[in-house]
Amino acid sequence: MICSKAPGKIILFGEHFVVRGFPGIGMAVSSYARACVDSSDRDLVESKQLGLLYDEEKRLGLESSFGAILREIRSLGCRDKIRVLIDSSLFVSSGMGSSAAVSVAVAHALLRFCGLDSSKENVSRIAFEAEKVIHKRPSGIDNTLATYGGVVYYRSGSFRKISVKWPEDYVILIVNTGISRETGAVVKDVLDLYERRREILEHVYRSAESLVEEALKLLERGEFESLGELMNINQGLLYAINTSCPLCEEIIWLLRRNRALGAKLSGAGRGGIAISLYRKRDLDEVLEKLRERGLETLIVGLDERGVRDLLE
Ligand code: PMV
Repeated sequence: MICSKAPGKIILFGEHFVVRGFPGIGMAVSSYARACVDSSDRDLVESKQLGLLYDEEKRLGLESSFGAILREIRSLGCRDKIRVLIDSSLFVSSGMGSSAAVSVAVAHALLRFCGLDSSKENVSRIAFEAEKVIHKRPSGIDNTLATYGGVVYYRSGSFRKISVKWPEDYVILIVNTGISRETGAVVKDVLDLYERRREILEHVYRSAESLVEEALKLLERGEFESLGELMNINQGLLYAINTSCPLCEEIIWLLRRNRALGAKLSGAGRGGIAISLYRKRDLDEVLEKLRERGLETLIVGLDERGVRDLLE
């Protein structure tokens, strides 16, 4: 049996503004999707959380992302029948890039099982084909982060890994609003708003650009203390383009009132996840309050390596 794991992601800065060609910064986080491949009498994909997702015999999932991955693997010459088992710690449909992390882990495990080229380039390419099935026009940031790990500055389809030394005593606390959102619909609303209010929103987009450039400098210099302030400003800009929601704000303010250095939504918004920067020693009270409120949380750091063997 061959097993791989790939990290999920958060967007630290710049979501939505990236859609109009402005820069953004994404980060791979230390929470993972895992995939194990074994031989079988027919092609099968099963998820511990979601059940049977692909069954060749029942013609289930042929048009899914797994169908796309298997077609790629077959075209590269793999003939073995396989059974894939998936297990993921990532929140689903919440902006953590869980579909991309799963596709990357599955592609990596399958390529190795079949003795094919499992270079990161090949894994990311195959996972991007799978992402196209799910997201129609994906930006490519999710499969890039799941494959290569690290912190990535991106703009108009180009991705640059930036060198960040994540300090031991800082973590990102992720809170799941539990509201699953339709990324495409929120993106469309934001673009429509831009068209109606171009003169006003141009300034908001320019602010977002300055903010991302400043955040890039702080990350490179390791000035994490000031990064939280920029997360708060970023959330203000997201509020301005109407991608927040009442529960999102409630969670963000709970975090800010309980020692977060900064808090914002990550990704499409109107639900999904909120992210906040914390010193480890400041977490106890906020975790207790979030638990009382019945909200799911994850505490993560930076994943620098991206996809790899499960045991590495
Ligand atoms: O919530 P997610 O992970 O689907 O992120 C969407 C990010 C947007 O900037 C809103 C859209 C995009 O394609 O970049």
